[in-house]
Amino acid sequence: MNEMPHVILSRVSERVSRVCGRGGVYYTFLYIIRSLLKSGINSMDGSLVKIEQRKRIVEGWSISAKRFTVNDNKNLWNSYDWSQRGEEWTPSAEWKQKIISDFLIPYVPEGGRVLEIGPGGGRWTEFLLARANKLFVLDVSDRALALCRERFTEFANIEYLLASDRSIDLAEASIDAIWSYDVFVHINPVDARSYFKEFARLLKPGGYAVIHHPGAIDKRELNPRGWRSDLTENLVDEFILENSLNLVSRTFAYVNPGDALSVISKSGSLT
Ligand SMILES: C[S@@+](CC[C@H](N)C(=O)[O-])C[C@H]1O[C@@H](n2cnc3c(N)ncnc32)[C@H](O)[C@@H]1O
Repeated sequence: MNEMPHVILSRVSERVSRVCGRGGVYYTFLYIIRSLLKSGINSMDGSLVKIEQRKRIVEGWSISAKRFTVNDNKNLWNSYDWSQRGEEWTPSAEWKQKIISDFLIPYVPEGGRVLEIGPGGGRWTEFLLARANKLFVLDVSDRALALCRERFTEFANIEYLLASDRSIDLAEASIDAIWSYDVFVHINPVDARSYFKEFARLLKPGGYAVIHHPGAIDKRELNPRGWRSDLTENLVDEFILENSLNLVSRTFAYVNPGDALSVISKSGSLT
């Protein structure tokens, strides 16, 4: 809920008097100017990102590339409280079962070589492991990987990969299916583009990728507090196209409002 103006005003004046009490008048003057500049820059960044999204600017120098970086994600998820292993994001047992029956079972072949991006506490890893002959889990958070290592210690068919740059250290056409839920919603467009390039390289012909990502720009306000990156559905479509992948289906159900869940394939048939 938005705060009332008089509450904000009293909080600001209390802060100013504390700053002034400790730092003096000149310090307070600089402090206020700095705060104003910072909030101006933040709002300018918001406007620049909207233009980048509209014009589909995906460049290392863009503003959206400076937000939701690998380091931002690493810091956030390394210090996250994983005691519920990500189940705090599961609205109901039925919801989870529906995702498994409609997306995981149809597109992750039994006995296949599977890559999960961003396993976190292993919410989906458990089910991927039960189907895969070999499962690779890739995460920027060493803490998430350590938790998975501990949780799946008795499984010999899992390998842990720490994501350090934008490439994935696996052989070309060696993966039957890629799974990533609640991860690309936190990845910036430049990093997401590199991942899509890797999907095209890693997938066997006929292989699938099931990817949860942000939806259309005009749906953003449906999920204002979801810590969503500046990636959009249109950019995902562009990445699919530029890597000669195919969009098999897209749903807006089973994800947070404003997000999307896409099934993507690489042409050909699995051998
Ligand atoms: C919200 S959690 C979701 C975890 C799990 N997929 C789930 O649904 O419960 C996001 C996970 O994505 C990982 N992540 C964030 N950015 C990443 C990136 N660029 N590459 C790989 N993993 C990333 C985080 O470290 C974290 O484990």
